[in-house]
Amino acid sequence: MEVVILRNSAEIGGLAADAVCSLLRRRPAGVLGLATGSSPLPIYDELAARCAAGDVSFARARGFTLDEYVGLPADHPERYRTVIDRVFVSRVDFAPDAVAAPDGLATDIPAACARYEAAIREAGGIDLQILGIGTDGHIGFNEPGSSLASRTRIKTLTEQTRLDNARFFDDDPDAVPTHCLTQGLGTIMGARHVVLVATGRGKAEAVHHLVEGSVSAMWPATILQHHPHVTVLVDGAAAQRLQLADYYRETYRMKPAWQEI
Ligand code: GLP
Repeated sequence: MEVVILRNSAEIGGLAADAVCSLLRRRPAGVLGLATGSSPLPIYDELAARCAAGDVSFARARGFTLDEYVGLPADHPERYRTVIDRVFVSRVDFAPDAVAAPDGLATDIPAACARYEAAIREAGGIDLQILGIGTDGHIGFNEPGSSLASRTRIKTLTEQTRLDNARFFDDDPDAVPTHCLTQGLGTIMGARHVVLVATGRGKAEAVHHLVEGSVSAMWPATILQHHPHVTVLVDGAAAQRLQLADYYRETYRMKPAWQEI
């Protein structure tokens, strides 16, 4: 696991965008895993700017989103399918239908989840998964207690997550759906490169567990310690509880010029 401590979210967005651009140069038909939440927004802003400047094209790329609320109407502005279209997909040159999302309105939820897993498999798997992290250490919507081997399925949101996400629902936790569909921890572990971004003091404990804690379903992101290629991009506030922060800074400073994240 590589930990890179950067000055601000603009630097984080730039470095993560470099990784996406490098992938699409090597593999124009690359497959991206797309997270919602506020943390990845600087990445999407940077990619939209680079696409507008002609520096990167998504024309042959594909995308799979991480998760979705169950039961939000198709036209709800906070439905993750709508959010990812608004913040990223509509701002670059993806082909129509190149980005898929779990169907939170499916009548047969287990079948919809199985179809989503099959679609990821048929696309050849995810090359680069962009991830945020919840304050309780969840990734996607894999809340504490999630099976470390889980696949796409329905989950119940914790009260903490509903409180955290109430800001998108007029500050009303009761308006946040109780259930979601999420790629499982096993699904996320199948991505070839995981880039997790976190900023702010509120993420410091989760980042500490992710990087330096014991692997445990209580802090679901810790499963990433078993992944061979994870890059954690954080600002100083989110890095505040890292014991080896000086070592991570030094390692990044000394990184060979030829070595990408
Ligand atoms: C939600 C999403 C996660 C995201 C998390 C943190 O729960 N399902 O994918 O990582 O929120 O969001 P933010 O980046 O806004 O703090």
